[in-house]
Amino acid sequence: MTNNYPTFPLSRPRRLRQSPALRSMVRETALSAHDFIYPLFVQHGTEVRLPIPSMPGQYRLSIDQLAGEAKEIADLGIPAVLLFGIPAEKDPVGLENFAANGIVQQAIRAIKEAAPELLVVTDVCLCEYTDHGHCGLLDDAGNVLNDETLEVLGNTAVSHARAGADIVAPSGMMDGMVGAIRHALDEAGYKQLPVMSYAVKYASAFYGPFRDAADGAPKFGDRKTHQMDPANAREALREAAIDVAEGADFLMVKPALAYLDVINRLRAAYPELPLAAYNVSGEYSMIKAAAAAGWLDEQGAVLETLLGIKRAGADLIITYHAKDAAGWLSNQ
Ligand code: PBG
Repeated sequence: MTNNYPTFPLSRPRRLRQSPALRSMVRETALSAHDFIYPLFVQHGTEVRLPIPSMPGQYRLSIDQLAGEAKEIADLGIPAVLLFGIPAEKDPVGLENFAANGIVQQAIRAIKEAAPELLVVTDVCLCEYTDHGHCGLLDDAGNVLNDETLEVLGNTAVSHARAGADIVAPSGMMDGMVGAIRHALDEAGYKQLPVMSYAVKYASAFYGPFRDAADGAPKFGDRKTHQMDPANAREALREAAIDVAEGADFLMVKPALAYLDVINRLRAAYPELPLAAYNVSGEYSMIKAAAAAGWLDEQGAVLETLLGIKRAGADLIITYHAKDAAGWLSNQ
């Protein structure tokens, strides 16, 4: 037999794969409940636990449901939740977004009371609150106004801070949003409140189920004038650099799976900053649908997906699988 592979038989990578103990010893990446941030959808009403049809296993919850939910999440070892609110009424500005007793403000207080150690991150954007469903104020022609929107984002972040939020996460991809929010928070006395910027957010088809869940689909047009073109990765570095210069404390890439290269590039470019990746609704629903049809093993597919996002370079993963994955990991 001729040997065309001169490293063989000296090198046998299979030596290190022989037993669970050996594989575990040389494992490069470890996933834990500590890595997760769990998104929650909150709405008005009482005793509401409304299943979201496009996201099996996820619900819209009323405030009275949050104490139990928060304790369950904290008990699983998940350090944080990310809040999205569905307002009672929508209008062109999205007034409930920064109302002292708005749905998210109420939710923050309820969660912090029930589980003070659970970190509350809030999504700061206009799209769930505006009647037109866009992420900013509009001009008469229906264009998203950038600079005029920044003031609303600042007011919203401050009202979340007043209600007790631990971290604010602007997701609207307006230019200058991190700086405007940082300035507004500092002025209001919240100099210590961190900003987690959705710095690199793509105009993605994978947000589809979320827009059902949060009732935040644009009534006309799309988000391509502010969210990034999926074809661009160098531009992601530019977006990140701007947000870092404006004072972002965390960076985020969203979605995760079609953008693992972008996560990897940001990890390399900003080794000193915590990096989050958002495993978005469409990524969740694809696995849930395939598992329900019997085409995929859900636990295996979910843990492999989350591990891949972490291996690519994310420190934190925002994921609807968080509770299930935390449970599975604790049984391993
Ligand atoms: C906007 C926002 C969106 C998501 C998070 N924040 C929707 C959008 O940009 O259209 C999507 C999250 C997901 O799909 O899981 N506030």
